Amino acid sequence: MSRGKNVLPEAGPTSSRPARGWLKRAIAGVAAVAVIGVCAFAALAWRPAIPEAPTPDASSFSPVLIQQGSRLAAAGFCASCHSVAGGKPLAGGYAMKTGFGTIYSTNISPDRETGIGTWSEEAFLRAMHEGVARDGSHLFPAFPYDHFTKLSNADVHALYAYIMTQPPVHAENHPNEMPFPLGFRPLQAGWKLLFFHPARYEPQADQSPLWNRGAYLAESLSHCSACHTPRGPLGEELKGRLYQGAAVDGWFAPPLTADNPSPVPWTSAELSDYLTRGMSRYHGPAAGPMAPVAHELGMLDPEDQKALVTYVESLGGGDARADHTAVAVKTALAADAQDSSRISDAGGRLFVSACASCHYNRTPDVNPVRPELGLNSPVFLDDPSNLIRVILYGISAKEGAGGIVMPGFARGMSDEDVASIAVYLRNTRTDKKPWPDLAKQIATIRAAGPGEIR
Ligand code: HEC
Ligand code: HEC
Ligand code: HEC
Repeated sequence: MSRGKNVLPEAGPTSSRPARGWLKRAIAGVAAVAVIGVCAFAALAWRPAIPEAPTPDASSFSPVLIQQGSRLAAAGFCASCHSVAGGKPLAGGYAMKTGFGTIYSTNISPDRETGIGTWSEEAFLRAMHEGVARDGSHLFPAFPYDHFTKLSNADVHALYAYIMTQPPVHAENHPNEMPFPLGFRPLQAGWKLLFFHPARYEPQADQSPLWNRGAYLAESLSHCSACHTPRGPLGEELKGRLYQGAAVDGWFAPPLTADNPSPVPWTSAELSDYLTRGMSRYHGPAAGPMAPVAHELGMLDPEDQKALVTYVESLGGGDARADHTAVAVKTALAADAQDSSRISDAGGRLFVSACASCHYNRTPDVNPVRPELGLNSPVFLDDPSNLIRVILYGISAKEGAGGIVMPGFARGMSDEDVASIAVYLRNTRTDKKPWPDLAKQIATIRAAGPGEIR
């Protein structure tokens, strides 16, 4: 583009009418602005490729560092997103269905041809902190780099040491299925400009070191808010509604704030059991997409687990309401005792015959392997998805408390049966308003199928 007066010649002798010259100048002006815009955007979007590097030898890292990296990888759920059920670890291929198409996780094993074996630590660090691949292309935020950007360089170093010393897996990446132009990677630069703030975690001076450690883990590696915070139209997390609950993969990740609907508060003790053992005595199991999260958090250092619990408890302030538990448990057990007298109701009859043999607590306290439905968030949430999913597809031995299962009723029950049980539980266990569109939601969830259990 040249500047100066010669670019847009005045209406010359060839221009018979002055108006046409004006129009030409306007069109040229708009075109020039558009070209400048495109050039500026291209300059902004363009990131250099980082040259291929030799795969580092395992002996270049200390075993302690690799071990540390392995725990960090667990806290970041790298393997659960970068593998498919029954597939090789870190080989990618997991399909993430988003509102913008299906994005497949990639092979991040150190294979030189199909994985990231040619990535230098510099390239890996740039991917984690800025969401840019080694070849300079922009990555989609289905890869939670908007959280990993908060990681310290030291932790990224440990992750690199761990990943580069895992067995290389030869597996080609699955192409994404995204409608044009959404799959056009340079457009991601625009998304980043609007919503991405590359920066390391800043400790909060008014909080304890333990709380800050927990906040660091939750906000960076464990990216809890990626599932628990609602998103806007362009897939951005709505930071003004942090942890207020959101739909994810056909489930609903409940609020982690004081708005959590369970009548039993999330105290540190319950959070600790739920997050690290996959089951809380009062709240029940971590199922669906939360199951691998709890499973992997179980592998963290006890001190890091404590830090995470400290931070998450502070979001809802459950410890200060710990005395609500006894009353809530008493109310829930009293409702259980009524079920057998409610079989004139179709929902009650189904509940007693299909569910109550397991979900019945007679003792003064609940039995942790019989989740108490009068305390369980899926019955209290405004979104019935979790309850419907659990009734249709059950809970596998891998999910929730290890080794115990709940059978699914998809074959044995019609949509109406499922609806009548859900309505029965909502009426007899909660003071919440009835769910609208229950039948439609059950049909949708049945049509979608159980999904992948990881
Ligand atoms: C929520 C799912 C998810 C989690 C958790 C996740 N990733 Fe990914 N990751 C992805 C997806 C999807 C892509 C591909 C993005 C794209 O194609 O733009 C990706 C891409 C990457 C890339 C770029 C690789 C390439 O081929 O360009 C690296 C490096 C990476 N992830 C490392 C990690 C590490 C390390 C962790 C754990 C700390 C991790 N990821 C956790 C979903 C995830
Ligand atoms: C991949 C998405 C995802 C991620 C990441 C995730 N969660 Fe969850 N979470 C869910 C879903 C879905 C549920 C509902 C599970 C159920 O009903 O069994 C849930 C349930 C919970 C619950 C129980 C809430 C209730 O009222 O029953 C807590 C507490 C929780 N998550 C905390 C966390 C924390 C802390 C992190 C980060 C360390 C985290 N979650 C990361 C999806 C996720
Ligand atoms: C054979 C025993 C059994 C039967 C029958 C059964 N459940 Fe369950 N249910 C369980 C167990 C065990 C768990 C906890 C599973 C785990 O932790 O892995 C559970 C968990 C649940 C949860 C908690 C889900 C969550 O994510 O928090 C709900 C809700 C539930 N069941 C509802 C029902 C309903 C409704 C019925 C009847 C249609 C039913 N169950 C029938 C054993 C059963």
